[in-house]
Amino acid sequence: MNLKELSCMYDFKGRTVVVTGGTGILGGEIGCALCGCNANVVFLDRNLDPAQRLLEYANSCGVRAIAVPGDVLDNESLARSAEIILNEFGQVDALVNAAGGNKPQATTSRDLSFFDLPPEALRFVFDLNILGTVFPSQVFGKHMAQRGDGVILNISSMNAFRPLTRIPAYSAAKAGVSNFTQWLAVHMAQEYSPKIRVNAIAPGFFLTNQNRFLLTDEKTGELTPRGRSIIEHTPMGRFGDPQDLLGAVLWLLSPAAAFITGAVLPIDGGFSAFSGV
Ligand SMILES: NC(=O)c1ccc[n+]([C@@H]2O[C@H](COP(=O)([O-])OP(=O)(O)OC[C@H]3O[C@@H](n4cnc5c(N)ncnc54)[C@H](OP(=O)(O)O)[C@@H]3O)[C@@H](O)[C@H]2O)c1
Repeated sequence: MNLKELSCMYDFKGRTVVVTGGTGILGGEIGCALCGCNANVVFLDRNLDPAQRLLEYANSCGVRAIAVPGDVLDNESLARSAEIILNEFGQVDALVNAAGGNKPQATTSRDLSFFDLPPEALRFVFDLNILGTVFPSQVFGKHMAQRGDGVILNISSMNAFRPLTRIPAYSAAKAGVSNFTQWLAVHMAQEYSPKIRVNAIAPGFFLTNQNRFLLTDEKTGELTPRGRSIIEHTPMGRFGDPQDLLGAVLWLLSPAAAFITGAVLPIDGGFSAFSGV
């Protein structure tokens, strides 16, 4: 294989990729990188307010992109999204499940013990991360199964390998996402087509809306003790930048990863490799 043949694998021209949580920080960055690699991109989110900026970027890349409303916890809403997407592009080649997150009410603190975490907050976080990955995989995975081709990329987390303190629902749900990634990879390959691949990335720590309250002080912007501890336990000594995800995401979505399925890839500056000593 030469450089030209390898580079061609990263040209997504004619391929349609749906990104759930597509107007969020990581989903938006991933969607824009795909636009830069010539993909047709669908930014699917329940909140489309930030979509204009993403669509303008897509336009500047000369690719077709649309923003589509959809709730990853509601199969009927996803079916409506799929109808819009299939009308526009005819098929879906890849799905990135980037909707997810945590919330303060499901996080233990000095004022909120594990025993008092409200059931609705636990259920919200658990459902969003695990069912919010399973439901879109059903809706768009069925379409891939019918075509015998496709790629699904999930977003797991460091919590999946070993739980982090304070966030029990998020940790358990992300462990579920890694487990489901392996399950679906086997199921798709055995029951439908070995050309349908399912993988996950497990990002380390990236400052975004879902964790800013845990890692930085709201008033001063300084790192919290938890934020400092994370940096100390990250051999590369920094938080991730959303762009740090892109090489691995494009690779796993591309034919360069044709023999990779069921993998969960840490992108964490060495966090998961470090014993602390
Ligand atoms: N940031 C990190 O350090 C980190 C580390 C590991 C893994 N992750 C994972 O990476 C993924 C992206 O996170 P992010 O940091 O980019 O967070 P983010 O900016 O909050 O993006 C998440 C997006 O998902 C949307 N969303 C929430 N519930 C939804 C629903 N029911 N249906 C459709 N869309 C919904 C959110 O909309 P709203 O704004 O309306 O809520 C938001 O646009 C998540 O799975 C997260 O768990 C993040």
